[in-house]
Amino acid sequence: MSGMTFDDILAKKRYGIELTREEIQYFISQLTENAIADYKVSAFLMAICLQGMTDRETFDLTDAMAKSGDELDLSVFGEKTVDKHSTGGVGDKTTLIVAPIAACAGCKIAKMSGRGLGDTGGTIDKLESVPGFSVELSHQQFLQQVEEIGVAVISQSGDLAPADKKLYALRDVTCTVDSIPLIASSIMSKKLAAGAQHIVLDVKCGSGAFMKELSQAQRLAEAMIDIGKRKGRSVRALITDMQTPLGSCVGNALEVMEAASILQGKTEGDALTEVCLALAGMMISSVFGEPFARGRQQALQILESGAAYQKLIQWLTKQGSDRTVCENLDNLRLSSLSYELCAESSGYLFGIDAARTGHLAKQLGAGRENKGDPIDYGAGIRFLVKPGDRVTKGKPLAILYAEKEITRARLAQIQQELFSFSEQKPSIASPILQMLE
Ligand code: URA
Repeated sequence: MSGMTFDDILAKKRYGIELTREEIQYFISQLTENAIADYKVSAFLMAICLQGMTDRETFDLTDAMAKSGDELDLSVFGEKTVDKHSTGGVGDKTTLIVAPIAACAGCKIAKMSGRGLGDTGGTIDKLESVPGFSVELSHQQFLQQVEEIGVAVISQSGDLAPADKKLYALRDVTCTVDSIPLIASSIMSKKLAAGAQHIVLDVKCGSGAFMKELSQAQRLAEAMIDIGKRKGRSVRALITDMQTPLGSCVGNALEVMEAASILQGKTEGDALTEVCLALAGMMISSVFGEPFARGRQQALQILESGAAYQKLIQWLTKQGSDRTVCENLDNLRLSSLSYELCAESSGYLFGIDAARTGHLAKQLGAGRENKGDPIDYGAGIRFLVKPGDRVTKGKPLAILYAEKEITRARLAQIQQELFSFSEQKPSIASPILQMLE
């Protein structure tokens, strides 16, 4: 790498010339050693946003980022390891449902997860709303638990893909988040470093997601699948709807309750169950090399048998929560104040705005304004209706939970912002928009 300078690499990208693998590796090594000024890195990120990257460049960037810190070795589990990643949406509690299902089928889920980045809590925040649950296990405890019960989820360690952490912090403040090669390399660098042989991606599409359009979501999914293939990992993706919040609850404790209710078979046939069965089916079929339809059928049988609910209790208990708490997740603490949103006229519920629901959840206390802010695990929204339902004037549509006072005027405004109605019964499309492999 003698004679190479970052300034030359920056200039090449600015003029749209393809970078070599060595140049990309040099950039990531210099970045990791804090040897490049932030303003130069920011200029480089903007050049990538404007000029793009070839598939080969995107892979080389991802690979170098994955190798910039710790890489988990899950080889003791052979071909059975599977990870699931969602690009982020409102009400997305799928990990709490699909991990127990896939573990019951014999998959090994050794997962590192994050706290909330956007409006609502992340999987780690949701799990922490169960009293006693520990998101920090030693490396040995983590592997031991996966060996014994098939699933462990811990908080992302500080050393996993540190180059991504630095780049993301700069992207966040320089208007350079929104680039397919940068998003794909950011997500996949962490997934590759986390070590699973099989990766199932849930790429969200709609107002409550990064990707608002199906064509963008497709390009992101294809970019991530290509990265995985080049690295010899099996990567498959679903593109799922995020125009409407997923399921009926948004908020940390509320989402744990809803996940437990789905696993107990108390809620059936809704979009959340459909997405979870597809994801779990993909995880199972990837690990066991079966057709997707067989994996999904197995996921359904496990769900209906109640085994996955028992696995959830076993998992939460194993990571520190009291068995009595786990067997009564309906009793998790919610915020002390609650407010009903009632229909102002009769008709059919046409839609619930996912993006606005996410912003509202944050205002109620379920998400963070800034990294490290405290979170109110008991805050959130429970919807009592779903798109396509008939609603009658005066009947409650949702309950909000918070520790703060909300005025009647504000409640009326929230009602207007979240819901849309129609006179005719709207047709409800499948939440699964596409499947890619
Ligand atoms: N999630 C990530 O981890 N990185 C991105 O760039 C976007 C979403």
